[in-house]
Amino acid sequence: MIYPIEVNDLYYKYEGNLREILNGVNLKVVEGEAVAIVGLSGCGKSTLLYNICGIIPHIYKGEARGQVKIWGKNILDMKLPEIATKVGIVFQDPDTQLFSPTVENEIAFGPENLCVAREEIGLRIERVLKIVNMEKYRLENPNSLSGGQKQLIAIASVLAMETEILLFDEILSQIDHEGKIKIREVIKELKGEGKTIVLIEHDLDNLQIADRVLQLKDGKLEEFKDGETVGLNRA
Ligand SMILES: Nc1ncnc2c1ncn2[C@@H]1O[C@H](COP(=O)(O)OP(=O)(O)OP(=O)(O)O)[C@@H](O)[C@H]1O
Ligand SMILES: [Mg+2]
Repeated sequence: MIYPIEVNDLYYKYEGNLREILNGVNLKVVEGEAVAIVGLSGCGKSTLLYNICGIIPHIYKGEARGQVKIWGKNILDMKLPEIATKVGIVFQDPDTQLFSPTVENEIAFGPENLCVAREEIGLRIERVLKIVNMEKYRLENPNSLSGGQKQLIAIASVLAMETEILLFDEILSQIDHEGKIKIREVIKELKGEGKTIVLIEHDLDNLQIADRVLQLKDGKLEEFKDGETVGLNRA
């Protein structure tokens, strides 16, 4: 069977670190599934997502062993632009994602790089801003927005890429209560459209969106049993 995401026996150590952060991770995600990953701060959740979207090993070097496959293709045999057509990632800190002078430029950036037609890009900007309820901020500078609003724009800019696989790294952390409800709905809709989703979560209330919850512990993924102490909050 070919999976949108398949991770086999993955080990990873950052350059200069002594310890392996990922220590034999195995993960298979089927099409249309939403998998949540929880775990203590610093246990390697973001590092795992970097391995799935190709930032590791293509940008961060370090020492990696094992295999990550996207739709059956080894990520080592794919260049970053090719991976970007298949996997979208919303980072934990929206400031690392946003760099354009206006919200609309920010959202256009990814599709422009994929050579999407100008007219189509315009339609996508409208559509994704509507999804995150941020239409009126289209001409604002992302730097002038609040943390939660930045997260919404980071989500919108990744949705505009229309990738089949979406990685969400604690994307609800700074969003207000109403915004959270809205984005949880959006994630459910994306799942309904057949998107494959991996989300890192810190907030137990958000785990209900997931079909499966896994815990990253000692560098390995295991089944999560509610009630364990994994540094989770309840809003
Ligand atoms: N670029 C880097 N170089 C060296 N070490 C790093 C780098 N990025 C992260 N680390 C280390 O790797 C470990 C795992 O970090 P990671 O960010 O993946 O954890 P996390 O589970 O996402 O944490 P959090 O819940 O705080 O977001 C941490 O000890 C961190 O200090
Ligand atoms: Mg993290």
